[in-house]
Amino acid sequence: RDNPSWHGRKVLVTAGPTRETIDPVRFFTNRSSGKMGYAIAEEAAARGANVTLVSGPTSLSVPHGVNLISVESAEEMYQTVTACAKDNEMIIKCAAVADYRPKNTFNQKIKKKDGEWEIEMERTQDILKELGANRQPRQTLVGFAAESHDMEVYAKKKMESKNVDMIVANSITSPGSGFQGDTNEVTLFKRNGEVDDVPMTTKVEAAKRILDAAMSIHMERLK
Ligand code: PMT
Repeated sequence: RDNPSWHGRKVLVTAGPTRETIDPVRFFTNRSSGKMGYAIAEEAAARGANVTLVSGPTSLSVPHGVNLISVESAEEMYQTVTACAKDNEMIIKCAAVADYRPKNTFNQKIKKKDGEWEIEMERTQDILKELGANRQPRQTLVGFAAESHDMEVYAKKKMESKNVDMIVANSITSPGSGFQGDTNEVTLFKRNGEVDDVPMTTKVEAAKRILDAAMSIHMERLK
């Protein structure tokens, strides 16, 4: 696994879900387990990269040789990732970041009352878009897109609007693919128009394919 082209390169990976607090006992989150992002971080470290993993709450152990920074909310992930971004030559954004959070959070537990409870939601900051807008000339940016339909259209749109080099499009409707399990099926959409299918495989194998593609893009960039 050791691979000279990765030696000493600083790579930032994000993984896992975020938690958006409502009150001291309640939060909004999503189904990300962190497995895909942790597999990428572990493989990049095994190849010799200097890996920082910014992770939302998961039950996984820290991959060998990886520097873990734990965060909770989308806002914390935004602050941490934007602060570290310029030190890293490759950023792979696998985290499932909340797009919305409760507009108000409460310091005390909200008591049950009769009738309905409406929670007003506001947008979180789009981290990938911010990274794309401030991308360094020698930096490679890889985003993910979890899609249930029209995958190609949305993936290509994200690649353009967020100024990233590659989108890993993750079908979340095929059985055994996407959130939680140990397997995944993804399609890699690259800026140069190339499209690579990674048929159903383990997340560990998918991580290898994603990193191979990301490094060949990075090598082109550094030429
Ligand atoms: O963790 P697992 O259980 O192994 O599951 C893996 C996975 C399905 C979570 C992963 O493979 C995946 O698809 N991750 C991206 C999930 C996602 O949030 O997709 P999206 O289409 O909503 O976001 C697109 C991209 O924008 C992502 O790179 C995301 O990190 C980024 N984003 C999203 C919202 C936000 N506020 N800021 C962001 O940077």
